[in-house]
Amino acid sequence: MRTPVCELVGCDLPVFAFSHCRDVVAAVTRAGGYGVLGASTVSPVQLEVELAWLDEHTDGRSYGVDVLIPTSYDPRAEVPPEQLEALVPAGHRAFLDGVLAEAGVPPLTEDARAQLRTDLAAGRGGMTPAGARKLLQVALTHPQVSMVVSALGAPPADVVEELRAKGVVVGALCGRARHAEKQVAAGVQVLVAQGTEAGGHTGDVATMVLVPEVVAVAGDRAHVLAAGGITHGSQLAASLAMGAQGVWCGTVWLGTRESELDDFERQVLFDTPTEGTVRRRARTGKPVRMVRSELSEVWERPGAPAHLPTPLQGVLYNEAHARVVKARRGDLWSFPAGQSVGALHAETSVADVVYRLQLECAEAFERVGAIAQS
Ligand SMILES: Cc1cc2nc3c(=O)[nH]c(=O)nc-3n(C[C@H](O)[C@H](O)[C@H](O)COP(=O)(O)O)c2cc1C
Repeated sequence: MRTPVCELVGCDLPVFAFSHCRDVVAAVTRAGGYGVLGASTVSPVQLEVELAWLDEHTDGRSYGVDVLIPTSYDPRAEVPPEQLEALVPAGHRAFLDGVLAEAGVPPLTEDARAQLRTDLAAGRGGMTPAGARKLLQVALTHPQVSMVVSALGAPPADVVEELRAKGVVVGALCGRARHAEKQVAAGVQVLVAQGTEAGGHTGDVATMVLVPEVVAVAGDRAHVLAAGGITHGSQLAASLAMGAQGVWCGTVWLGTRESELDDFERQVLFDTPTEGTVRRRARTGKPVRMVRSELSEVWERPGAPAHLPTPLQGVLYNEAHARVVKARRGDLWSFPAGQSVGALHAETSVADVVYRLQLECAEAFERVGAIAQS
């Protein structure tokens, strides 16, 4: 089931997997799909470790790297990473500390806090163009990385130029057709049309509406992948029918045993219904679809301080999230996940998901073929 985008990036199946977890990326890639490692949560040094591992565990196949290059962010955050924490206002920190203390979540140990600071200083979560450029330089030293994808705006011209000059395919996420237009004009070759159903940073247009719009914008200038809410092979068939050349999934991998989540975190996902996610600025300062919990909702309380701009909200959120995970508090846990979380009920494996998607897609085409001939 190869489509032209598979030829372009070097994979056998039009199933693209976004994950921050290298085990998922490797397993999808080995199964014939195309794994893309989310690099926005690691430092450049850690990214090198992850990519060296992926080179070893992907049977020589190509895989991708994803970075966040926000077009809007707090310019004060372009300081050396070790100075970022100091930019978080004390009042915001006190507010979140108060919420967690009230809920009985203990503070982190000094060692754990020191580790967070060390990671931050090393450039972890560098959600600024400068931070992303450092990650890109690491990605470019790994020849198996055949595509780099960016999100949160059209990638800057120098980034596109450098990637394309080195033969690396340029992809970008878009949530509106007019964003797709800008991205194609910027030289993006693969457009990931991501509907509001998706986990992570997302807009407000549904996948079913967005994909045909982006396909129309792309014409023969770019390839389109459908994203947002896709967990079933019939949706792969529908995406291909709408003119996309494949699907790009994120949430579905969170329920696999390869994912980075702890058992208690996976259980929260299995217990979350379709309508149990919200789009909130709580995690990064930009709207992220995530599991609804006290941690996603506190900023909506009357009298709560306003969200901080990107990337400062993330600095604040990361410590709170680490406290909730350490305390294994499922009731407070919130994580990016899309509406398709309602389709996750029990642990599975990456290979099973990839196989199931193909089988269900073939069944869907058979059904539709029978209707077309009747
Ligand atoms: C846990 C999680 C983290 C995500 N982080 C990023 C990210 O750092 N960069 C990015 O481009 N997309 C990110 N996304 C969005 C995915 O790339 C993808 O578009 C989305 O998951 C597709 O919709 P789905 O979640 O319904 O499958 C994330 C998604 C999830 C579920």
